[in-house]
Amino acid sequence: MTPVTEAVAALKLSERIHRIEPSATMVVAAEAEKLRQSGVDVVDWTVGEPHFSTPRHIKDAAIAAINGNFTRYTAVGGTIELKDAIVQRHGEDFGSGYKREEAMASVGGKHVLFNAMQVLVDHGDEVILPVPYWVSFKDIVCYAGGRCVMLPTDESEGFKVTAQMVARLVTERTKLIILNSPSNPSGAVMSPEDMTEVVRFAAERGIWVLSDECYVYLNYTGREFSVGSLNEYRDRLVVVGSLSKTYAMTGWRMGYALAPAPVIAAMQKLQSQSTSNPTSIVQKAAVAALEGSQACVAEMRAEYIQLRDHILEGLAAIPGMKCTKPEGAFYVYPNISSFLGRSLKSPAEFARHLLHQAHVATVPGEGFGTDEHVRISYATSQKELDRGLERLRDFVASL
Ligand SMILES: Cc1ncc(COP(=O)(O)O)c(C=O)c1O
Repeated sequence: MTPVTEAVAALKLSERIHRIEPSATMVVAAEAEKLRQSGVDVVDWTVGEPHFSTPRHIKDAAIAAINGNFTRYTAVGGTIELKDAIVQRHGEDFGSGYKREEAMASVGGKHVLFNAMQVLVDHGDEVILPVPYWVSFKDIVCYAGGRCVMLPTDESEGFKVTAQMVARLVTERTKLIILNSPSNPSGAVMSPEDMTEVVRFAAERGIWVLSDECYVYLNYTGREFSVGSLNEYRDRLVVVGSLSKTYAMTGWRMGYALAPAPVIAAMQKLQSQSTSNPTSIVQKAAVAALEGSQACVAEMRAEYIQLRDHILEGLAAIPGMKCTKPEGAFYVYPNISSFLGRSLKSPAEFARHLLHQAHVATVPGEGFGTDEHVRISYATSQKELDRGLERLRDFVASL
């Protein structure tokens, strides 16, 4: 035992807290920040958040809420006004027909996931999780006592997930399947047909599907789709949404769930014993975001597509670098296996050396369940992409 683990053991912390690890993305971002604090000019490609400012009309709504003294407790799962705005926006965009009692707001999409997992997953339950996966899914499942059953996907097939692949992993303990399209970290987008098949397959067996749709508005295929529109299967579905990426509101902390009313009631009960309502003024801002013009979303999406194409072009020009074209979100997930072997053995080592020698911060793939990739967020300026690409090119040439 190291002195630190000995000290932790002496504190007799709960068994639960040892089941999980700090988010891998946050660990690397903190390392990059430390370097920056010491005066190093770091190109930071780790951040999973829009580089845009929150649109003006959303900020104005929050300011008006403060000035209007909308600063007290609200209903735990959000105001009626907010719940109605959530279901209306979703209905208009995806043709779903959720009712107010099938919606709730929480302190970010991550909080929605945490609530949902605590409410649905029991000790020993199995949760099917496609790989690569967003870092927090695994820990949130573990904290609820569940066991993740990893579903490997094929990079050459664009990390596709199908009902047949899911079927191979189902046992009598399977409680839930996680879908995340567009995906963090791969940017892969499931076709509406594949998503429908997985949901139908699960519903017929009484298995829950939790669909994390935090990037649903950053889908570049031209076929935007939410499983929430599959009305016939809705009694086994939890849709997780977030305003973080859609409206450049990561720091505001606003996410929502769409799910059967008893699930929402259970999640609200849990939330009533933890955070209570999401911040009142943020709720007003969220209503402005959901009910106001959606032009800002389209503008940001158009810029992400340009940035994606720019970084893909830059990566393609680096000998040995391979990268599947992502169809959504704002990440590329290049395969760096041709640089591993001699001096660098893993993506973690690659990312560490890239950070300390070339001052480019990326997230190693191990945190997402794969051992040949790093994740790059292209939610930054084109200039920053170019600076990083030049350093990356020189770094790999020196290996
Ligand atoms: C797939 C996915 N789900 C959920 C979240 C949580 O976002 P937030 O809690 O900011 O809504 C993120 C954030 O990076 C994410 O990538």
